[in-house]
Amino acid sequence: MIEIRVPATSANIGVGFDCMGLAVSLYSTANFESSSQALEITGCPERFQNKNNLIYQAFVKACEFLDRPVPNLKITIKNNIPISRGLGSSAFCIVAGLAGANAWFKNPLTKNQLLDLATQIEGHPDNVSPAIFGKLGVSFIDEHQDVQTVHFDVSSKLHFVAMIPDYQVSTEKARQILPTTMSYSEAIYQIGHAVALSKALENGDLPLIKQAIVDKMHEPFRSQLIPDYQTAKDICEGASGLMYISGSGSTLMAITDNETTAELIIKDIKKSFPNWETHHLNIDTTGVISTIK
Ligand code: HSE
Repeated sequence: MIEIRVPATSANIGVGFDCMGLAVSLYSTANFESSSQALEITGCPERFQNKNNLIYQAFVKACEFLDRPVPNLKITIKNNIPISRGLGSSAFCIVAGLAGANAWFKNPLTKNQLLDLATQIEGHPDNVSPAIFGKLGVSFIDEHQDVQTVHFDVSSKLHFVAMIPDYQVSTEKARQILPTTMSYSEAIYQIGHAVALSKALENGDLPLIKQAIVDKMHEPFRSQLIPDYQTAKDICEGASGLMYISGSGSTLMAITDNETTAELIIKDIKKSFPNWETHHLNIDTTGVISTIK
């Protein structure tokens, strides 16, 4: 049996809209083994237990790329990444399916090839890059439509708190709400902040992270879709942390530089929002892992 473990990912990180993403220590797995039937899927709602399942579709895409027949498959999913909450649940499915097929055929694909295929399915690389490589990924699509990605270590001094509301935000709606143009002065603001943020995360420099993470490209518009955004932000900032919208939301991610503050944020969030899920996380440094069992 092949087990594929994929970390959750937190895209955008404020100023890195559609380019930057972090791999965090919350994991889902998908197991692949042969079956007497064409396809068996367990561990997800019944409506996804068919050939439209994204894990299976990604597996099939890799088979087509490798020009190999799609085997009869049993897929067993253990998902800890909440769906449509901005923590890379679709990146998990895509990367698990591609990596599952790669392991099935004895690893003919490099991680960069997995990234190109994953980006073709997902449409943007900001979640799939850290899901594959771990750490902080900064990515762009070059003029040949290949994905270029670089990875930054993130200081182990930093603590991350995922605050997951009990409601979803549709990525489609969160993209439609954005303006279609921005000015030169806003672009200059965004470039400087994004580059500085990468270094500040590497150095664990919380005061600089607080300055650099303040976004003008999506967060001011998308915060309107998350009714509790300001209350949660006040809780994080009141505890000397900071907060950004993870992916297109609804998850809000806090960053602090000590454990006590992270736990205080969790306590206050639980008090204000008893139905929210919270996770105290650190950075995943390896990305997807395949194990033969
Ligand atoms: N970068 C994407 C967005 C992530 O913010 O729309 C969600 O898939």
